[in-house]
Amino acid sequence: MDKLLIRGGRALHGEVLVSGAKNAALPELCAALLTAEPVTLLNVPQLQDVSTMLKLIRNMGVAAERASDGTVRIDASGLNTPEAPYELVKTMRASVLALGPLLARFGEATVSLPGGCAIGSRPVDQHIKGMAAMGAEIVVEHGYMIAKLPQGWTRLKGARITTDMVTVTGTENLMMAATLAEGETVLENAAQEPEISDLAEMLIAMGAHIEGHGTSRIRIEGVERLHGCTHRVVADRIEAGTFLCAVAAAGGDVVLRHGRADHLDAVIDKLREAGVQVQAVEGGIRVQSAGGNTLKAQGFRTTEYPGFPTDMQAQFMALNCIAQGMATVAETIFENRFMHVNELVRLGAKIQVDGKVAVIEGVGSTTSRLSGATVMATDLRASASLVIAGLVADGETVVDRIYHLDRGYDCMEAKLRGIGADIERITA
Ligand code: UD1
Repeated sequence: MDKLLIRGGRALHGEVLVSGAKNAALPELCAALLTAEPVTLLNVPQLQDVSTMLKLIRNMGVAAERASDGTVRIDASGLNTPEAPYELVKTMRASVLALGPLLARFGEATVSLPGGCAIGSRPVDQHIKGMAAMGAEIVVEHGYMIAKLPQGWTRLKGARITTDMVTVTGTENLMMAATLAEGETVLENAAQEPEISDLAEMLIAMGAHIEGHGTSRIRIEGVERLHGCTHRVVADRIEAGTFLCAVAAAGGDVVLRHGRADHLDAVIDKLREAGVQVQAVEGGIRVQSAGGNTLKAQGFRTTEYPGFPTDMQAQFMALNCIAQGMATVAETIFENRFMHVNELVRLGAKIQVDGKVAVIEGVGSTTSRLSGATVMATDLRASASLVIAGLVADGETVVDRIYHLDRGYDCMEAKLRGIGADIERITA
């Protein structure tokens, strides 16, 4: 298993290219299943999760080619097996995004239940509830969701759907299913993440009638068929946010090319309050920092977009660990998303957890510092927080099990090395 070896203490300077968003590319690969015409996606990141999604759709009989420049060409005209098997779904929950497109285009789908994952139980009841409201008959048997249209139906029927909570992939799945349904679908309590808007733009380019994306009410007027398109995947705001925290912690001056400051308001506000300079510049974001121990720790609560993203909680916590003062961080989206805490503590961080709240005492105002150690990545964003801590810890930090990091960060260590970090991959 690969590891990362980081020697802390170097400031970061230069430019980083922000990749396409994982959480937009994954639903968009599934959206290509909605048409028999070729679809081209540009700016698709090189990630393990993207490879898994390509494997999943190829397994259905879809032709998908990936070029090294981030272009993916998909031709779903030969799709003959509308199924997502457990072996693939278990490694990536986002596989559940195949359900809506398959059901909408073929009138049937068999998709494995994703099961639990490290950060929480993450059920898909809202996906099922929404598809059922559009008329699908869904049974859960032997760990699979088996969905089909009622006898005599050729299409799903539009419906008004209010999900019990705001769900990102739930909104995406239902929005995709509704594009080919008969009549109007209204999604209330919809997620507003930029990745939802990016997916909606792609679907519109395929001929879908959608309005209200980016708000909590999305209206979709179903059409009989969708056509092919070429779509560029939006920049990854979580990757950009991770680099913002890395530069804030290590100190330095970096431009994040293609980064979208307007997608990171909540994170950027907190960074500015901490004492980091962040500016939207043409074609990117510029971040300047004197380093973590000059900054002031910031409390926050994770919420749905446009609030503070749960996917940035661990990375900002790493920054708080080395800043001055105390901060309280509340995780409201997932029940078990503090697994990085024990590992950060191994590096010398002072953190107390009580349920969904973590209290961090930054070591910046004391004489103590983080000191390098061997730590273990437990999930994708937790891994990123350990890398950030390693960049400022004294001596050597080894981050083990970085396959988690490879699931969602495109060449992270190469990008960090490019701006001056002392970091290398050790391949076992
Ligand atoms: C997506 C993102 C993930 C991010 C999360 C929250 C993708 C591929 N993944 O995950 O990176 O951390 O949004 O911003 O885009 N829930 C239910 N029933 C459901 C659906 C969700 O109870 O049917 C609950 C979940 O357990 C969780 C909350 O709702 O507590 C939000 O989950 P959701 O927005 O669905 O997360 P994902 O879409 O899986």
